[in-house]
Amino acid sequence: MKHGLIGLAAFAALASCNPQAPESTRVLAPSAIGVDGAAIINADATPDVWLSHGRTYSEQRFSPLESVTGANVGELGLAWMSELDTARGMEATPIVVDGVMYVTSAWSVVYALDAKTGERKWKYDPGVDKSRGGMACCDVVNRGVALWKGKVYVGTIDGRLVALDAATGEVAWETVTVDQSKPYTITGAPRVVKGKVLIGNGGAELGVRGYITAYDAETGEQAWRFYFAPNPDKQPDGAASDKVFAETANATWDDAGAWRTDGGGGTAWDAMAYDPDLDILYVGTGNGSPWNRTIRSPSGGDNLFLSSIVALKPDTGDYVWHYQTTPGETWDYTATQHIILADLTIGDQVRKVAMQAPKNGFFYVLDRATGELLSADMFQPVNWATGVDLTTGRPIETPEARFLETPFAAVPGPLGSHNWHPMAFSPQTGLVYIPAQVIPQIYVAEQPGATPQALWNTGVEFAQAGPTPTLNERQALRAALKGQLVAWDPVAKKPRWVVDYPTPWNGGVLATAGGLVFQGGLDGRFRAYDAATGEKRWEVETKYPTLSGPISYEIAGEQYIAVTAGWGTAFPLTAGGDALETVGSPELGRVLVFKVGGTAELPEFETFEADLIPPAARFGTEDQLALGRTLYDRNCMVCHGPLVVSSGVVQDLRWAQAPATKATFAEVVLGGKYASAGMPAFTNGLTADEVEMIRAYVVMRANEDAPAPAPQ
Ligand code: HEC
Repeated sequence: MKHGLIGLAAFAALASCNPQAPESTRVLAPSAIGVDGAAIINADATPDVWLSHGRTYSEQRFSPLESVTGANVGELGLAWMSELDTARGMEATPIVVDGVMYVTSAWSVVYALDAKTGERKWKYDPGVDKSRGGMACCDVVNRGVALWKGKVYVGTIDGRLVALDAATGEVAWETVTVDQSKPYTITGAPRVVKGKVLIGNGGAELGVRGYITAYDAETGEQAWRFYFAPNPDKQPDGAASDKVFAETANATWDDAGAWRTDGGGGTAWDAMAYDPDLDILYVGTGNGSPWNRTIRSPSGGDNLFLSSIVALKPDTGDYVWHYQTTPGETWDYTATQHIILADLTIGDQVRKVAMQAPKNGFFYVLDRATGELLSADMFQPVNWATGVDLTTGRPIETPEARFLETPFAAVPGPLGSHNWHPMAFSPQTGLVYIPAQVIPQIYVAEQPGATPQALWNTGVEFAQAGPTPTLNERQALRAALKGQLVAWDPVAKKPRWVVDYPTPWNGGVLATAGGLVFQGGLDGRFRAYDAATGEKRWEVETKYPTLSGPISYEIAGEQYIAVTAGWGTAFPLTAGGDALETVGSPELGRVLVFKVGGTAELPEFETFEADLIPPAARFGTEDQLALGRTLYDRNCMVCHGPLVVSSGVVQDLRWAQAPATKATFAEVVLGGKYASAGMPAFTNGLTADEVEMIRAYVVMRANEDAPAPAPQ
């Protein structure tokens, strides 16, 4: 790493890992074929391109481009828009090189677009079996590609890693990275380090064992694999993780417990970073599978390497160190959130740090050479722990937080104080910009012998009891949801400024040398703020949320800001219409690109109006309706919304055709009629009678919410 600007007064308080490159140090950007380790390590010398997921291996998401500033950001206009072919959630960070943008949409589809005009050059559709949509806990999203020596790499929702020719989109090689009989998915972007493509996976809501694998970028041959949960018999796997499991990690798991059949979790579904000087790869790992530790590992234990940052050697996968953010994880508190590397002056020492704001609500600063915990402070309200003991590195848990005997109303809930939306770091301000949120949840342990959830398997009871809450009660729940952009000072260990949003689940962040930070909102607006003060400098209506990580690039002296837009992703999907101010409809995903003086027009969106198919007549006894509700909450709510109120990402069942008769409903739910649209067939989990009880509940809810008939 270069330290070209050390000595500048502005940087006295803070030596940056990736200082911005002054004009004069710029070099000619590589072509797609020229993208390799040296090109990515020297990314600051080619700020006109965006070569890897977080732009640099340090994943700072800081663009050294500075022609868009506070003075002219108000003149940003749409340069171009490209409509993609799928309508589910958009989470991809684009890659730009050679005047070409490589971006992905839902269902793992890759597009190559002219970065100046948006014209489509090629498209690659991996043709995933859409019935696997039921295994994707959090929508069938994809967070982007990696690029290396003329090849583009994408992980697919059905667990493949595919290498494409960057020029044509033709498949160069493809390999299956998971046991496809298990509910694994891939949503994360691969990274390429030292000629190896690194890819993890997801699925720990349903029951899998997490790991990361390295493949030769040229041939697709597997180089190494590191597991983040133990072998089911605590035996060696022939993997890079064998040694540390035998020495320490196996002992942190009960010999018995649901982990042995459900995989244990620890899926690495998003964060990676790499320090070329230390030659260390950092990987963030996910929650336990099942979530509930009492079921997973009954006698307790830290359950390594759940919810951890794990440092590995990229050539071999050899273990270097780990830090576990949430020992004995039981709340779905993943530590897969974005990891940023920077050099900070703490006290009078320059420390090489890794920083993370995982779901559990604490902002961690670690020495990235040794894993030593330097600080851990709440960046959002938290009640599961009162703090982190810096001597032991362990959280000080609230005793009742583990919902053993009684339910616990936790902040945060499973969607976390920060989710996948990437944060950014500006070496100019020394601030980390976190898309933070408050989404509480009441955790209730699943009772032994309860009807299992057919797909999800968390050990946490999702079913609600009692009468349907009133509209007022439903609105009060929504009012408890909050979002913030937090400009966190990692040295002072507190926010320097915050922006409040009316909703959680706002977009990823880009920081630029023009002194700006860009962020989209769930409210369908894309904004720029002054990086030092948080003052809003620009805002544009995009209608559909721009939640992905924005990027910046330059062509012919013009700076562009790009972001993807679309409806879907985990919160809108699972929290349903009641959690949102307005509902959307499945419009096609879009790439939006802005520049100063851009004059392209955003086409009008169709306004969403549900076809109000009048509900069928109510049926079912009180007991049957209660069972129908329980089964609905356990199996259907995660996509169709609590209380059968959908956000519009998938069909609102209150106003749908299929619930009209037993036969039409069963055709969909058991017969798989819409499997190719992502509606799983529940053949292994639910009986025909149970499905009919669900229908009774759906019909009841439709009648409760149906608009009063117009006066005659
Ligand atoms: C993984 C997400 C997911 C889960 C879980 C899920 N669905 Fe669906 N469902 C879909 C999608 C996607 C569609 C079809 C596309 C659309 O309507 O947007 C759909 C469509 C349907 C339809 C057809 C509606 C019509 O147009 O008439 C019915 C009925 C249905 N689902 C019932 C259920 C029931 C009952 C459950 C629980 C047992 C359930 N779904 C669980 C995603 C899901």
